[in-house]
Amino acid sequence: MTATIISGTQIREEILAEISQEVQGIRQKYGEIPGLVTILVGENPASQSYVSLKIKTANRLGFHEVQDNQPDHISEEDLLALIDQYNQDEKIHGILVQLPLPQQINEENIINAIHPDKDVDGFHPVNAGRLLIGGTAVKFPPCTPAAIQEMIVRAGVPIEGAEVVVVGRSNIVGKPIANMLLQKGTGANATVTVVHTRTRNMDTHCKRADILIVAAGVPNLVKPEWIKPGACVIDVGVNRVGEKISEKTGKKIAILKGDVDFEKAKDVAGFITPVPGGVGPMTITMLMRNTLRSLKYKLGLIE
Ligand code: GUN
Repeated sequence: MTATIISGTQIREEILAEISQEVQGIRQKYGEIPGLVTILVGENPASQSYVSLKIKTANRLGFHEVQDNQPDHISEEDLLALIDQYNQDEKIHGILVQLPLPQQINEENIINAIHPDKDVDGFHPVNAGRLLIGGTAVKFPPCTPAAIQEMIVRAGVPIEGAEVVVVGRSNIVGKPIANMLLQKGTGANATVTVVHTRTRNMDTHCKRADILIVAAGVPNLVKPEWIKPGACVIDVGVNRVGEKISEKTGKKIAILKGDVDFEKAKDVAGFITPVPGGVGPMTITMLMRNTLRSLKYKLGLIE
């Protein structure tokens, strides 16, 4: 059996077209467009590459995009003042501070300083709490978990009643996706297990999964024998394992590998996401959707 590939790049195009249409409608009716600021501190190459993709996508959708690059040595105080400035800016509906941040800055203080109504990453404790409550309390579902849920739903894989196993318990992926899939509602109602570095017999848990979500940050952690035949496998890993020259641009680019041994896993799974071209492109798409949601809340289009 060869698995159906769930292509993030393909689903992205569908969703971006939906967003683009909504943006045009809102611009015509209300004269407003979604505004996103991306704050990048320092010159981490992975962060630069993510941020440039975010900017490109926002521009393509006709958003008001502000790119704010800050030096590596910026103080926490100055960064907090900058966030406050964007909190007050009427044209900005989403504030994204690219993580990780340099050592002198406490990430928690920065996340807490972003106004919860502009926190399009969904990392602020208020939004984490809203996610835990579920239903209409949720304002900004965090982007990677939202991408995962959307991909499973759009692939037509049933989630209700399914055994879901999540590998990894991070605040950005593992904990929120587990919480989202166990809620009451469409695209949820699953039975969820979270496994992590202290779990005994991780393989036994994984083998039970109808839907296996892997966000561990360990290349090839999940072996093909751990996958139930026909299962849906979502690989969130983005591991930089080397460099190569891009055939398209002639520039040096990172070689990316997931947390799942894709080549072997695709012969066992029923559905699988590739790396690259899987969850990654969808995450940025969900950031755009959250920025549009923020404007819609402001305009009273979402209660
Ligand atoms: N760094 C890696 N992933 C993310 C993300 O989703 N949001 C932000 N702000 N920084 C990141």
